[in-house]
Amino acid sequence: MRTVVEGVSKAYDHPKGPQTQALGRVDFAIEEGEFVALVGPSGCGKSTLLNIVAGLLAPSTGRVRFHGASLNGRPRTAVVFQDLALFPWRSVEGNVRYGLEELGVARRDRRRRAREWLALVGLEGFEAHYPHQLSGGMKQRAAIARALAVDPGLLLMDEPFSALDAQTRMDMQLELSRIYEATAKSVLYITHYIPEAVFLADRVIVLTGRPGVIREKVRVDLPRPREERIKVEPRYVEYLERIWGLVRGVGGAAEGTGS
Ligand SMILES: Nc1ncnc2c1ncn2[C@@H]1O[C@H](COP(=O)(O)OP(=O)(O)O)[C@@H](O)[C@H]1O
Ligand SMILES: [Mg+2]
Repeated sequence: MRTVVEGVSKAYDHPKGPQTQALGRVDFAIEEGEFVALVGPSGCGKSTLLNIVAGLLAPSTGRVRFHGASLNGRPRTAVVFQDLALFPWRSVEGNVRYGLEELGVARRDRRRRAREWLALVGLEGFEAHYPHQLSGGMKQRAAIARALAVDPGLLLMDEPFSALDAQTRMDMQLELSRIYEATAKSVLYITHYIPEAVFLADRVIVLTGRPGVIREKVRVDLPRPREERIKVEPRYVEYLERIWGLVRGVGGAAEGTGS
């Protein structure tokens, strides 16, 4: 599925006082199977944009269109948030089965598919555990399995690893790139952590400060599978420096150029 974000902007109304223009006009596409990371300073409208793409929030202008790939009975998007991702009263497997129940998948298939996805994210043996019995990294693995199990056209992730400690976060970046390479899903990944964006993405879209507009779209031409050692290679470091500069407002056009 190809996702097209067309002229989307968002102003929040306030009961008293002026509106907040959270997001300026943005236009971009996410190609079938592409991993796009969206970076920008805190408060620039990243979560607002993700919620609009997810259909959880109406834009003030513009629209989001989904093209191609038959989506018969499949949701267009599924979201992994930073926290509050799992139902505490359901087991890990029960959480992953949830979306499949909503889709009307037969009971036997639900169990099989839930177990397959849990194995893919490295949670084999933890199916009967409850969220409070899991580490932060394991909770996010379960949330990823739950989102992928419904076979969405686009996986949306809003700072999914921001609450994790540094080591777990690095492990999860590797895990996510492995999962992405294994599933070839389209992904829109939001982060304010630039090294993570460069490590994971095929393309990094840099937003300006609030109201966020696209400063630049940067294609990340690094080989896959992505491995930890890429982080010490000069071309990886060059991407970091370039994108740090763009986020600070150095270089690049005010509107996105390039691919
Ligand atoms: N529901 C809301 N009502 C009013 N203002 C909001 C709401 N959600 C976010 N905002 C404001 O919109 C701006 C962008 O927020 P957000 O999209 O969460 O940014 P980011 O995810 O990039 O940190 C911020 O100034 C924030 O305070
Ligand atoms: Mg946010």
